[in-house]
Amino acid sequence: MEENVGIMKKTVYSAVQPTGSLTIGNFVGAIRNWLRLQNEYDCYFAIADLHAITVRQEPAELRRRTLELAALYLACGIDPEKCALYVQSHVSAHAELCWILNTLTYVGEASRMTQFKDKSQKHADNINMGLMDYPVLMAADILLYQTDFVPVGADQKQHVELSRDLAERFNGRYGETFKVPEPLIVKGEARICSLQDPAKKMSKSDENPNASVFLSDDRDTVIRKFKRAVTDSDNRIVCSEEKPGISNLLNIYCAFSGHTMSEAEASFSGMGYGDFKLAVGEVVADVLAPIQAEQKRLLADKKYLTEVLQGGAERAFKTARRTLSKVCRKVGFYRE
Ligand code: TRP
Repeated sequence: MEENVGIMKKTVYSAVQPTGSLTIGNFVGAIRNWLRLQNEYDCYFAIADLHAITVRQEPAELRRRTLELAALYLACGIDPEKCALYVQSHVSAHAELCWILNTLTYVGEASRMTQFKDKSQKHADNINMGLMDYPVLMAADILLYQTDFVPVGADQKQHVELSRDLAERFNGRYGETFKVPEPLIVKGEARICSLQDPAKKMSKSDENPNASVFLSDDRDTVIRKFKRAVTDSDNRIVCSEEKPGISNLLNIYCAFSGHTMSEAEASFSGMGYGDFKLAVGEVVADVLAPIQAEQKRLLADKKYLTEVLQGGAERAFKTARRTLSKVCRKVGFYRE
């Protein structure tokens, strides 16, 4: 039985767009979970550049961010031996399956997606077909790999639901072809909130530059942002619903130091808010520093990065091609 273990592994698929800078919220909520998942599952992690161009991108910047994101993943500990780390546009099967799935997607259902409606408002001068097609492309991403689990944040759950619907619809019409994927909402995941408004999730696109701590922020910036974090007029350092600012800082402290909440509360008891905020900033900066150094080192080694991404794309393509050719046969495309 031992040698069958590899074959039995379930598949995990996730992707991130190479737009904007990642925050410590993305680090704790997404990247760090991927590190755990890569040991247990057959993982595909993509850099979603096809999705990125659904809003206007500066070409040179898109190219730069794609490489930076790849280097960041590797610097955080994503192991290219364990998973397929690749650029979405390097595997043309994504666009091809998307086309086929488009013919099963109703304009009504696509136009009702929450994120499409939000983005249409935000980019009112560029409501292009790709923006509406975004979740269908995401379904193609996921279904190509016969994915079991899709680790995503709550904002992407509706898109995973659509992937399920499309998988079932295709299977119903053409016969069993796709595995029906499930969203993977990791338990115990710390929700990291804005430092300026702890009622809101920390976001990479917040207009307030002090609201989010980016993985690319240097030590002084990290510490300055924590110093400016909103707290309250009380001076007790405890985690409670009435103290959202302090609770958020404590959560961040725990996520970055590995301490439990009660350990953190005990060690800060009696301390002033100023010193507490400094301690949180320092622990975050200490975790980020080696990652940033490694990312920088990797970015200077283009040859290695290119090799990793090529290897990832080849590995992804092998699986994707198998699914796509099955799909093409099922829909009736003539094949020898
Ligand atoms: N839409 C996702 C996001 O912005 C990125 C993404 C693209 C994705 N394709 C995916 C996530 C497939 C999970 C699975 O967060």
